[in-house]
Amino acid sequence: MDDHRLTIVSNIQVLREEIAELRAQKKTVAFVPTMGALHEGHLSLIDFAKEHADMVVCSIYVNPTQFAPEEDLDTYPRPLVDDIRALEGRLTDFVFTPTDNEMYPDGYTTKISVSGVTSPLCGKSRPYHFDGVSTIVTKLLMMVQPDIAVFGEKDYQQLLVIRRCVTDLNIPIEILGAPIIRDEDGLALSSRNQFLSTKDRETAPLLYQTLTKLSEEIKETGGDLSELIASSTSQLNKAGFHVDYLELRDTKSLAPIIELYEDQSARLFIAAKLGKTRLIDNIAV
Ligand code: PAJ
Repeated sequence: MDDHRLTIVSNIQVLREEIAELRAQKKTVAFVPTMGALHEGHLSLIDFAKEHADMVVCSIYVNPTQFAPEEDLDTYPRPLVDDIRALEGRLTDFVFTPTDNEMYPDGYTTKISVSGVTSPLCGKSRPYHFDGVSTIVTKLLMMVQPDIAVFGEKDYQQLLVIRRCVTDLNIPIEILGAPIIRDEDGLALSSRNQFLSTKDRETAPLLYQTLTKLSEEIKETGGDLSELIASSTSQLNKAGFHVDYLELRDTKSLAPIIELYEDQSARLFIAAKLGKTRLIDNIAV
């Protein structure tokens, strides 16, 4: 019989005590922060975490400071009961579900702001987003104090922001990136995919198809890439997307790449709206 037990904790002090207990037993701890509405993408991070540590702690917290006022904080899905069931099925040991009051006590004014890798791509269209992310992740890392923390490459820029933040603040936690999980038709899984209309859901896989095709073209063609990128952008816009950005950038620094040289480590990044839903994706070139 499976005697696996998931402990649900919503109080910071209780979380600290539970984790101190694990430490006393010399257990290693992996941490997977999420905003819930869990799908196979999130759950793959739990499996990945379990491969790298004795115990897995997952947090579910829809962090208000990473949403701009016009964004979807109020409508962000919060199916907590389903989430907990899903975590139980994947050998999670602790789920931390803090309240807004605990995370942002009255009079709260501190923020962590990473510069550089936060400037391009999503940082341009969502200027406050990454401050919210680096602040909440730093707070969570200090509460959980895991040995490792796992982030999905789906939010590749976020992964780089967290790496920078942890390095700069000398936080002794190893940050691991895990691969993007996709639907059978290639669409990267996202909690926001459920908001796509039936018609938009049929169009959505074109995003990844375009990335894959463009990546091949870039590798074959070399030289100036602006025309290839412009033509892919216009095809997507014609299909009903509103492309926010489609760019080739350096895998580590996110510096823009105009011409690709051999041995250069590059990634294509895209964000596009389909109806009201903003989709992001990326692929190694
Ligand atoms: P959320 O969007 O819930 O994502 C939680 C983690 O799951 C992130 O590391 C994200 O990259 C990963 N993830 C989401 N979809 C994925 C997919 N299809 N394949 C692989 N990994 C995927 O990202 C956040 O929450 C928040 O910004 C957070 C870090 C929790 C801070 O609030």
